[in-house]
Amino acid sequence: MFHEVTLLNLMSFLRLHPDTLEEIKERTNIYDTISEYVVLKRRGKNYVGLCPFHDEKTPSFTVNADKQLYYCFGCGAGGNAIKFLMEIRKEPFNQVVLELAKQHKISIKDLEEENTEILQARISLQNQLYEILATSANYYEHLLYEPIGKQALDYLINKRQLKSETISKFNLGYSPEGWETLYSYLVKCKNYPVSLLEQTGIIKPRNKGRGHYDTFRGRIMIPIKDIEGRIIAFGGRSLNNQEPKYLNSPETSLFSKSNILFALDQAYKNIRNLDHAIVVEGYFDVISLHEAGIKNTVASLGTAFSKTQLRKLLRYTDSKQIIFNFDADNAGTKAIQRMITEIDSLVYSGQVQLKILNLPSGKDADEFLKFNQNSAEKYYKLINSAPLWLGWQIEQILLDKDLKRADHFEKVVKEMMILLSKLSDYNKREYYIRHCSEILSQGDTRLIPIYLKNFQLQLAKPIANNFNSKKSKQFTKANILLEDQLLKEAEINLLKVYLRYSEYRRRISKSLEFKNLFFNTKEHRIVWTKILEIEDSHQNKNKTDKDQLSYRLQETIWESSLVETCVDQILSFSELEQHEDNERLDLIIKASLIFLEKASLKKYCYYCKIKYQMIDKNEDLVNFEYYLNEYITSKQKILKLQLSQSLSELDANDN
Ligand code: UTP
Ligand code: MN
Repeated sequence: MFHEVTLLNLMSFLRLHPDTLEEIKERTNIYDTISEYVVLKRRGKNYVGLCPFHDEKTPSFTVNADKQLYYCFGCGAGGNAIKFLMEIRKEPFNQVVLELAKQHKISIKDLEEENTEILQARISLQNQLYEILATSANYYEHLLYEPIGKQALDYLINKRQLKSETISKFNLGYSPEGWETLYSYLVKCKNYPVSLLEQTGIIKPRNKGRGHYDTFRGRIMIPIKDIEGRIIAFGGRSLNNQEPKYLNSPETSLFSKSNILFALDQAYKNIRNLDHAIVVEGYFDVISLHEAGIKNTVASLGTAFSKTQLRKLLRYTDSKQIIFNFDADNAGTKAIQRMITEIDSLVYSGQVQLKILNLPSGKDADEFLKFNQNSAEKYYKLINSAPLWLGWQIEQILLDKDLKRADHFEKVVKEMMILLSKLSDYNKREYYIRHCSEILSQGDTRLIPIYLKNFQLQLAKPIANNFNSKKSKQFTKANILLEDQLLKEAEINLLKVYLRYSEYRRRISKSLEFKNLFFNTKEHRIVWTKILEIEDSHQNKNKTDKDQLSYRLQETIWESSLVETCVDQILSFSELEQHEDNERLDLIIKASLIFLEKASLKKYCYYCKIKYQMIDKNEDLVNFEYYLNEYITSKQKILKLQLSQSLSELDANDN
């Protein structure tokens, strides 16, 4: 805390020496800096990604490694690495520069001597923490080979079957029982100040009374290192089934659990070479995999996998392939779902190609390697055939489900739909729609196109309708009322035009006849029947009478009081001008007919839906297929009409 305050105070009057600034710029790599925040893909000489400064779905954010500059074609943000950090962290220049200097261990020269000393002190504090941790690791490692560590070494060699090279490569060690062993060593032999020891997390202050005790006692010690191989924390495994099985260092200024990947320092070059990374759950899974020669492996430390961790990995693979190998038992499945919740937006948007590997009979990688022959080869085979995240999820949906059972079938379809609706990429979605349809068809290829169409149809609806159901119900209700009102108006318009413009009569009656359309409102149906009757009875007598249609209609209608008000409306001149131009009349007829057609299709669609739902497809496949197909086709027609409606609305607005 003291140092933070000093640093902040200092920053306000810090004037960096130009040499220092130059060195910082030289040592800072823009790709490394930005890929902490953005998933960058190689495109030619440059890298591209989704801009972190504005919302976008296709990448317009570009990083030029030659020039060490970034630029966003979408929002115009741009500059060098320092500018990027200032913008993304909302930090002032000096703070960013100091952080970078710290990161690259660049000694800072200030134009004023005094400041330089304070800054150096801050950087040397960190170096002291690293030193303490390294000394502790050496001490633990040393003890593993002393008589006191015999049980621990036996455990590693016999029980975990590790080679001695592996044990030393990972600098495994042993923390002895006893409360103050490490503490005494570091304070009495090494003269480290207690306050610094406390900051590394390897000793803790006693709850009662004064003094400190060792954090780790009687455990196998696994050093956790940063990318540069510096020890920043420890994991400790108990030897005698003592709880907890694993104890990790507390969070410190050097160690943040959710930002660190175990063994990344040893893995990153292999990840780069192989162009994919494997993520496992446990320390020993990584250790065994590395021992077996599968060295592109890291582990998260028992926490959900964070975006930061993912980005750290992605910067080493151009093709952005990550394979999660987690336990396959039920808890494991849920764990995977939980693990990826934070990163799932990156997965669904296609920025990561995530595969899931579950090893047979629920083993973890360590167990698999230790209990199988030629296990490394077998493991690689499994890695290569691991399903993509979506395929894996579909497999999970199908677990314990019997597609022959109607309730299971329905549940599967529903879950598939939710999954498919998350896919924003058209091609990917089409691919998985096909995949799901094939599964549902259960080997009967005739059914595939039906399920396919059904998925496409359901997914064509705005996805928002599926969620937020209260709002969408209200919306639907209002929509139905509006549709009803519009349909009524359309019918009135058709009747009006028919009565008033004799030149359009043929077209209207032909269209109704041809498409087999009826007036939906009872009163309008009666009026239409009357009109046809009048025309029929006058057709042979006197042709000029035709233009008297309105008057004849009124006469006839007066006899039945039922439809009086509606006829008044139809005959009134106020709404429809007496002399409409042809173009507009044409539009009115077209638009009104669409409403009638839509209403009739909706009825038919509903009818077919009821039909196919009632038919057992195992007994009457032909009819089932027929009605389902009719249902889908009519639904598609409705959607098409809706589209043409909204387009003609645009047309109308244009005119
Ligand atoms: P697991 O319980 O799956 O154990 O923990 P494992 O790795 O197979 O351990 P072994 O093979 O019995 O030795 C997976 C990881 O979860 C974290 C550790 O990082 C561990 O490697 N963990 C687990 C903890 O942090 N604390 C615990 O108590 C248990
Ligand atoms: Mn294990």
